[in-house]
Amino acid sequence: MTEQKPWGGRFHQATDPTVERFSSSIHVDCELAFYDIQGSKAHASMLGHVGILSLEDVETLHSGLDAIAAEMEDGTFPFDPALEDIHMNIESRLFALVGPVAGRLHTGRSRNDQVATDLALWMRDAVTDVRCALLTLREVLLERAGEEVDTVLPGYTHMQRAQPVRLAHHLLAYAEMFGRDSARFTSLEDRLRHCPLGAGALAGSTLPLDREYTAAQLGFSAPTRNSLDSVAARDSVLEFLSVASISMVHLSRISEELVLWSTSEFGFVELSDAYSTGSSLMPQKKNPDPPELVRGKTGRVFGDLMSMLTTMKGLPLAYNRDMQEDKEPLFDAAATLCDCLEVIAGSVASMKIKRERMLEAASDPMLLATDLAEELVRQGVPFREAHEVTGKIVAHCVSQRLDLRTLTREDLKGFHPAFTANASELVDLESALERRTLVGGTARETVTQALEAAREALVFEATLIGVFDVDESADEDEEGS
Ligand code: ARG
Repeated sequence: MTEQKPWGGRFHQATDPTVERFSSSIHVDCELAFYDIQGSKAHASMLGHVGILSLEDVETLHSGLDAIAAEMEDGTFPFDPALEDIHMNIESRLFALVGPVAGRLHTGRSRNDQVATDLALWMRDAVTDVRCALLTLREVLLERAGEEVDTVLPGYTHMQRAQPVRLAHHLLAYAEMFGRDSARFTSLEDRLRHCPLGAGALAGSTLPLDREYTAAQLGFSAPTRNSLDSVAARDSVLEFLSVASISMVHLSRISEELVLWSTSEFGFVELSDAYSTGSSLMPQKKNPDPPELVRGKTGRVFGDLMSMLTTMKGLPLAYNRDMQEDKEPLFDAAATLCDCLEVIAGSVASMKIKRERMLEAASDPMLLATDLAEELVRQGVPFREAHEVTGKIVAHCVSQRLDLRTLTREDLKGFHPAFTANASELVDLESALERRTLVGGTARETVTQALEAAREALVFEATLIGVFDVDESADEDEEGS
């Protein structure tokens, strides 16, 4: 085996088969194949540009690399686990395809700056994929919100019915969260703008490489500024995993609500058959497995983050082989996140909303007790006193089994002289919603404006990413709302 390894000159013994199996990462980093080829082509071009390689050699290398890309594409590339990783698999194949000129490609380059570059290129695409998946989910949330402006449900705190809100308002809360997730991923792109190639193993190169040229070839805005940092840093991987974890938190929260809301106890929604599964034993069951799994997979993405944080903690500069462990959690988190975003978008888009059940739950007059207290405030009573008085009214209604709205002006005056009307005139579901016109509130007009602003932001973002069909669907659901 040693003759296949590029460091064979220094070694007298073949690698132990256990070590070979243990250190091989090709089953994971094969995912980087196309980025590695892209990086190698840019590196070869740069070597030609500075005169280290003849233009003929550059052409030969490029055609060999293109042939390898074609083999990857059609699944005929002969992967060899003995060659450890994707970089050496590709280089070795290049030798087989173009002969000794392949030995010139690795000039001024190490696998350390090579893998850092591959990862940055991979993450740039992964960020775009995640942003597109987030965009789709946000679009679905806005679409459904547009249809549910007049649907009212209780808002909860401590899982206790608190105050009524519009369902559109509730769905827009998630659109806000996923919008911030998208902004966090976008901001990560700033940390992926520098090209590590040319940093070598850790200390750069004595050869007259043109790092700016390579960076430009690969769409980076500049070379990285410190050769040690170039090969030692994995904080962009940590950042990707952190942002992915935050997004999974949001996905698991909406999942939990879908699970709760589809119980008979709540009965607020019914997931479509396409987004539910049955029980192998109980014929009556319709289970919300997709959101449950999203909730479950959240733990897995947190695990990916923890694993990478732990791998990097305490590593001295510069490259250490521990860092090979970066890829599995990164790839896993990105794939899991994209899957979960898609599954929740599908669940929300296809679920049936049971408006009557929501309204029934929101119609408990006790949910309007705060409004009664605020009425006293409008009459000049200090809020703490108003709260105390209203608390007594609520306790009275609970003990006497009375509907709050049946209290007359006189009944109310018995609790505080500042009351000037019957309870039924002071507390009413519709006006409780409509009075909340503050920015961020749940009044119809406020929600409609928030929806409009969210749509505009989404269309703008879609244009930035290069996805254009959001506009049309926004127009459609405008008509629908
Ligand atoms: N497969 C390695 C990784 O992913 C590539 C870098 C190896 N560098 C080294 N000096 N052994 O980290």
